[in-house]
Amino acid sequence: MRRSKRLNIGMSLAPTWLSGNGWRRSDSGTHTMLGAEFFIDIAHRAEAAKLDFVFRPDTMFVNMALLAKGGGFASLDPTVLLAALARETQKIGLLSTVSTMFMPPYILARQMMSLHWLSQGRAGWNIVTALDGNQNFGLDAMPSSEDRYDRAHEYVEVVQALWESYPEKAMVRDRETGMMADPSLIRPIDHAGRHFKVKGPLNIPAFGRAPVPLVQAGASEAGRQFASRFADAIFASTPDMQAAIEFRLDLRARAAAQGRSADDIRLLPGLSLFLGASRAEAMDLFEATHAGADRGRKLAHVLNLIGLDLSDWPDDRNVTVADLPHPFITRGSQTHAELLQRLIAREDLTVSQLLERPEVNGSGHWRIIGTVEDALAEISQWVDEGAIDGFVLTPGGSTGCMHLALEQLMPALSDAGLLRRDYSGDTFAHHLQNP
Ligand SMILES: Cc1cc2nc3c(=O)[nH]c(=O)nc-3n(C[C@H](O)[C@H](O)[C@H](O)COP(=O)(O)O)c2cc1C
Repeated sequence: MRRSKRLNIGMSLAPTWLSGNGWRRSDSGTHTMLGAEFFIDIAHRAEAAKLDFVFRPDTMFVNMALLAKGGGFASLDPTVLLAALARETQKIGLLSTVSTMFMPPYILARQMMSLHWLSQGRAGWNIVTALDGNQNFGLDAMPSSEDRYDRAHEYVEVVQALWESYPEKAMVRDRETGMMADPSLIRPIDHAGRHFKVKGPLNIPAFGRAPVPLVQAGASEAGRQFASRFADAIFASTPDMQAAIEFRLDLRARAAAQGRSADDIRLLPGLSLFLGASRAEAMDLFEATHAGADRGRKLAHVLNLIGLDLSDWPDDRNVTVADLPHPFITRGSQTHAELLQRLIAREDLTVSQLLERPEVNGSGHWRIIGTVEDALAEISQWVDEGAIDGFVLTPGGSTGCMHLALEQLMPALSDAGLLRRDYSGDTFAHHLQNP
């Protein structure tokens, strides 16, 4: 078990609180969403709450169907955005998302190390294998999950080798002798593998004081194997506590089997919050956010994920495990397909109930609708049951809800001994290791 019950908490820079109808509110600031000030404000609030990191998900395509009504988080390049935030913050980690599918590893290694230098040790890399965007990079189809993770393994090995190829100590800067750098310490990597051929060395030294933390998202068999080898943390979708407990235990066992300490891998589910001064207010916020949600899109999502066509079903008909098509290869994320199948197997739900659950009308994240006290109680329970090592805040509904999460719930967690009261170091790796 971990030494401390304190949590590693991150804050989403994807403005999840503007999803659904949230962006239509007069105070949503949606017209400022492509400017630095919008994100600086969130980063300042997250740093004031003493969170471990701010986090930007990303894709390399535009989802037209989502974009037409809101949502769809492809916008500012995350690493460029975080470089701007590096100048505006002092302590908080800066977690960027870059897929292993599209960008050459040399460029990723250089950009991430540049962000790490500019922020003095606060960069992090959220490693995704991506689900779409292939046609923007000359690929007719996305490779299979196994092929994408095979590539991801080699990609990360190349990036790590590049970071080691030019150690900081090679910068000797000896004014007496005139030796700026010691070339004998800077080595090519001469990598030649199935996916990449890279000579190296990297053209920027490694920041020596702290490594770049690696985070991963994706919970298929291949995804878990990958995470247990490389990741310091997993960004997960775990809508129910049992799913989180099982996933966490599995990751810890896999990490130990790889010769790592089980405590070196942290399960951080997304936490979707709809907070209000009362439960009724919170429920109103949730309902207002999803009012008028496109039923057709939800049905298409179910069909795409698990092959079940509910379009002709009456709202009150029960969906059972016997209705699941077998076998079916998902056209979406395997992680999310499994979560939806699991929900149908676990609970007795009608079509209309199913369509309201986070597995269908959200990102499959853990969701709390209630007061700050309700959220504190549920988070404490998940901690006590060994379900989580922390979470990534993805507040919903409104800017006010985002403020409540950072300005009331986070201090309440500090009071309960679940979140640091102040930073004890100034690198992202330090925060992860010292929650
Ligand atoms: C919680 C979560 C967050 C994700 N975030 C992103 C993202 O920001 N960008 C992206 O391209 N893919 C994202 N993915 C997709 C994964 O990188 C991966 O491609 C997908 O889940 C397939 O992996 P799997 O087979 O292990 O599920 C995310 C997946 C999960 C489960």
